[in-house]
Amino acid sequence: MNTILTGDRPTGQLHLGHYVGSLKTRVTMQEEENNQLFVMVADMQALTDNAKNPEKVSANVLQVALDYLAVGLDPNKTTMFIQSQIPQLAELTMYYLNLVSVARVRRNPTVKTEIEQKNFGEGVPAGFFIYPVSQAADITAFKANLVPVGEDQKPMLEQTQEIVHSFNSTYNKEVLVQPKAVLPPKGMGRLPGIDGQGKMSKSLGNGIYLADSADILKKKVMSMYTDPNHIHVADPGQVEGNMVFTYLDVFGQDKAYIEELKAHYRRGGLGDVKIKRYLIDVLEAEFAPIRARREEFAKDPQAVMDILRQGSLEAEKVAAETLAEVKRAMGIQYF
Ligand code: TRP
Repeated sequence: MNTILTGDRPTGQLHLGHYVGSLKTRVTMQEEENNQLFVMVADMQALTDNAKNPEKVSANVLQVALDYLAVGLDPNKTTMFIQSQIPQLAELTMYYLNLVSVARVRRNPTVKTEIEQKNFGEGVPAGFFIYPVSQAADITAFKANLVPVGEDQKPMLEQTQEIVHSFNSTYNKEVLVQPKAVLPPKGMGRLPGIDGQGKMSKSLGNGIYLADSADILKKKVMSMYTDPNHIHVADPGQVEGNMVFTYLDVFGQDKAYIEELKAHYRRGGLGDVKIKRYLIDVLEAEFAPIRARREEFAKDPQAVMDILRQGSLEAEKVAAETLAEVKRAMGIQYF
């Protein structure tokens, strides 16, 4: 039996990078027998660097939930919930913070990079600085043994593993479960943006979103970065670093045909518009049903929030049990 927990910060809609890197794996895991899956909208974590504009976070809770439902996460099989509605997570964080040194928190390479990117310096909010500890609370509250995440989250898992070890040995009881990261399938971890300038991301504005209409998807593919030296159809073109081929490798099913296209493109005589049209077909085949499901759920936001409310009630029960065990182990379950 596997208990799986993962989540996303609700700071924007989810895009194709999230889809290949993580959402698809979750749906597969959901369908396997003996898997108990928890998927969390991590609004508390999102607030650690958005305290001054909470509406950016709260407004995206529904958007992320719609993305979950659209890709096929099913509330009858998977518990979807909102982090801030589970107060036990904040409590656990307080106890875990006592097992972690400031020096150790400072070493986290992902947080380090984020602090630099956001130009926080010494002004970094304390909550942001320690969010890996809060993430350890998320994972351990559900006794998750598997945590599907991207490469950048490996340091969070290491921090969690250390906290689990420290807790169990300090309080002399095997209360917390050691989690393992489940990384994205090979080559699916870092989908570049349509501009080819780096990982698909909201801040770079280079994403294709699950919520994008067919029209927008088409426009985005048509504007994709290809080979700037491939000016005339007859010119030989470069496949490496050409986003159309990068995406075809990730999303295309007909690998043999894609290899033929590549050879033709390299030889010359194959235009960008042709390969872009083919990519649009490939993407539509996968994302049209997802978009349609998203639109259907979006008609009734109240029903979606009800799914999250039910999920949060279920999640709270599990977290409350773990918290009680934690407090007993620490000898602070007074009454
Ligand atoms: N840090 C994750 C992200 O930025 C979100 C997250 C919060 C998470 N808590 C988690 C992921 C626990 C896995 C497990 O997307």
